[in-house]
This record gives sequence, C-alpha cells and structure tokens, in this order.
Amino acid sequence: VKKADVIHAILAERIHNAPQPIIATAFAPTNIALCKYWGKRDQELNLPETSSLSISLAEKGTTTAIRVIDNSLDNILFNGKPIDPTSTFGRRLLAFLDLFRTKHSVHFYIDFTSNIPLAAGLASSASGFASIVLALNQLYDWQLSLQELSILARLGSGSACRSLWNGFVEWEKGCQTNGMDSHGSLLPMTWPELCVGLLIVNTHEKSISSREAMERTKASSSFYSLWPDKVRVDLALIKEAIRAYDFSLLGKTAESNAMNMHAMMLSAWPPISYFQPETIAAMRDIWKLRQEGLEIYFTQDAGPNLKLLFLQQDLLRVKSRFAGIEVLQPFLS
Ligand code: PMV
Repeated sequence: VKKADVIHAILAERIHNAPQPIIATAFAPTNIALCKYWGKRDQELNLPETSSLSISLAEKGTTTAIRVIDNSLDNILFNGKPIDPTSTFGRRLLAFLDLFRTKHSVHFYIDFTSNIPLAAGLASSASGFASIVLALNQLYDWQLSLQELSILARLGSGSACRSLWNGFVEWEKGCQTNGMDSHGSLLPMTWPELCVGLLIVNTHEKSISSREAMERTKASSSFYSLWPDKVRVDLALIKEAIRAYDFSLLGKTAESNAMNMHAMMLSAWPPISYFQPETIAAMRDIWKLRQEGLEIYFTQDAGPNLKLLFLQQDLLRVKSRFAGIEVLQPFLS
C-alpha cells in the first residue's frame, strides 16, 4: 500500500477542493511517549510494530501558517528562516506536501513557528506534521475528523499521529495493511499535578535519525523479539497508573520502558547510543534522588536529553536540584 492510496481513501473527491483564499493557521502540541514507539511493520506508511502512549505538552508545539502561492517552488520558513529543500528534513517535508498537491503546479507558502527549545531534541517533527495536516484541513475545508487527520499526520512522522490532542493519547497499532486502524485516540483522563521537566544536558546534533535507528534495532538486536511483550505489559500498567493516579507506577513503568528501548539500541549492530556522558550523569543524579525519597523519574527519546516526570508537590525540590530546567504542567495550561 502506498501513501497516495491512503490519501485517496481518506480524502476521495475532497482532494480536489479549491483552497480557501486565506492563510490557514493551526497549532499542534509536541508529545512525549511514556510507552515508546520503536520499530515499524511498514516503512512506507509508518505503521508500528506496537502500540504506544504519550502525553502532549499543551502549549509547547508548532504553529503552522499555510497558503497556496503563485510560484514555481514552495517557500517554507522555520522560525523565520528558510528551510533548505535539500536537507533531510526539507526533503521529507516536500515529499509529504507532494501528497496533497492537486496539480504539480500547486505550491505552498508555509511558516512554521515552534516554541519548543530546539536543543531539547523534541524539536519539530511530531508537532510539525500534526499542525500541517490541521492547517491543510482548514485551507481546503476538508472537514476531516481528528482520527482521519491523525492517520494523515502519521504518514509524515509516526509519532505525529499522537499530536492531534492534548493530554494522554494512545496510538493503537492496528492490524490493517492500509493502516486505517492505526491512529491516535485521546484517553479521557487528566492529571493536573503531573509535571514534565525538560532537562537539556547536551545540545549536540542527533547522531542517527530515529527512522534509521529503529530499522537497525529491529534488524539486528536480539532483544527486539522481546519488545512487543514488554510494550503490552507497560501499556496496561501505565493505563492502570493513570486511572488510579499511582505516580510511582507511572514513573517506574515509563522509565523502565525507555531504558529497555535504549538497551535494544545498545545491542544493535553497529551499536546505537543516544547517551552522552552528561545523560548518564543526570540519570545517576535521578536514581540518587529517588534513593533519598524523592519521587522523580525520567524518560529519554532519540537524543541525549531527559524528560523528568514528577508531581507538583516536589516542584521546588526538583528545581533546586536541576537549575535551568523548563517545567511544564500539561494539564494546567
Ligand atoms: O516518529 P518518529 O520517527 O520521530 O519516532 C519517535 C521515536 C521516539 O520518540 C523515540 C519514541 C516515541 O514513541 O515518540
């Protein structure tokens, strides 16, 4: 199944709608997975091997403004600077936009504004692709549901399908070959006291893209075959933790899930490590704080920085220990 088939299945005749004579603008939050997506069963459609569950970071994300322009090329800005169309991200973005051009001659002006600290390694892709599909939906008046938009966003970046909502979002892996049952869904629970701290330990560039790293892990780590069972157990525990407001269970399960993902990467060949010395030092600090009785946990994605998980009652202690962290309260904004 090709991406174009999925576009056709969702948009049908609506793909030919004329654009509104406006700049359409939409915002999508970024999201942090508490139970990770790592490994695809379909590279073309970004269909995952397992389900995953995330929390959206409310006001942290990307705003996309889009309109059709009378030009022979797209004009794309990111935080005011032109995106290089030959860069990896530029090429990925243009290929995504190609899916939505009604004619080859249609070109877009797109202005992305992100308020996520770029160095945090949570940069752009999830909220970027989610906000593009929201903006296109307005521009062409498709009137699609969030579920349909989630499927479209997934074609740009897997984790983007969880960025259509605020709060806890589960991405059900689905089993259909065209991926129509693989999309995000909002879990109807909130947790006002929950805090996420962005701990930037190192601002080096990503050494290897998540796409390549997932592929290599799946192909060469002998632990990969254990991952689907680990996710099944962790997903159930995280949902139970959210239901019962059991923060220890939530934090422990999220941290263990992230460590398992990185352990698989270390055991891939050639090995992959997103750890920098400062990452390990920060982990040791967190483990020590836990021994001292502070309920603090972390998760880590495809970059060296950590996202800390703790409750509002410990905010001052955490801030005094980690100077310079940015703290978000996803359910309070
Ligand atoms: O959607 P991608 O290709 O950026 O991959 C996301 C991978 C992780 O952030 C490490 C895990 C996740 O579930 O978000």
